[in-house]
Amino acid sequence: MSDRPHVLLSVAASLDGYIDDISDTRLLLSNDADFDRVDEVRAGMDAILVGANTIRADNPRLLVRSPERQQRRVEDGLPASPAKVTLTTTGELDPESRFFTTGETDKLVYTPDSAVPAVEDRVGRVATVCGMGEPLDVHAVLADLADRKIERLMVEGGGTMHTLFLTAGVVDELHLVLAPFFVGQAAAPRFVRPAVFPQNPHRPMTLAETRQLGDVVLLRYLSSRDG
Ligand SMILES: NC(=O)c1ccc[n+]([C@@H]2O[C@H](COP(=O)([O-])OP(=O)(O)OC[C@H]3O[C@@H](n4cnc5c(N)ncnc54)[C@H](OP(=O)(O)O)[C@@H]3O)[C@@H](O)[C@H]2O)c1
Repeated sequence: MSDRPHVLLSVAASLDGYIDDISDTRLLLSNDADFDRVDEVRAGMDAILVGANTIRADNPRLLVRSPERQQRRVEDGLPASPAKVTLTTTGELDPESRFFTTGETDKLVYTPDSAVPAVEDRVGRVATVCGMGEPLDVHAVLADLADRKIERLMVEGGGTMHTLFLTAGVVDELHLVLAPFFVGQAAAPRFVRPAVFPQNPHRPMTLAETRQLGDVVLLRYLSSRDG
């Protein structure tokens, strides 16, 4: 068992790098063929992570959708869908959100040590709450996931999570889907925030695959484990 899971970061963005717009409804940046591809990727994971703000904004289920893929997992002795993981500092999470209420699978909430009592109070009934440093240490989160037999982790956003995991140098694989339009709203969330990235012009990622799925394109990048 490795000291941390293989980390796959998955994102769909507009041509100008936005992952949503400023409206209250979720912007679709993908098509049915790509949703099915993402479902296949999810079905190969042990856990899926999103930031607390994505739970608040999108109320995602984060489940494997295809019954055949669910069945395949169950036959392999796995839950029908991967475990769900989130990070929060405020603990402002609704225990009735679909992250917690859907899927017979583990739900893990990581938070700084000092926030554990408040977060327990909020979602301790519906999830396992873990203090992981002060401030929260992403390497400790990954080590704890590895201890829980999570070997493959999919990070599905939003921009704060992308930035946190990329800047920590713990992303092994990046799946970037580009939608064929621009958003052009300065206040909309972007793929990443300004930061110092180890995947810089001197240490680029390796482009492993490009795939057209109807009107979107998947770019699959790999980084080396020591990067
Ligand atoms: N197109 C895509 O592929 C895609 C995918 C997912 C999401 N999205 C979009 O992304 C947007 C949300 O992105 P976002 O950047 O605002 O939020 P996010 O990455 O989903 O979550 C950010 C939240 O995570 C928690 N957090 C961040 N760093 C932390 C740390 N070091 N320790 C503990 N907790 C930490 C904080 O939660 P608390 O505030 O609770 O403390 C923070 O507000 C939404 O518009 C959503 O639709 C797009």
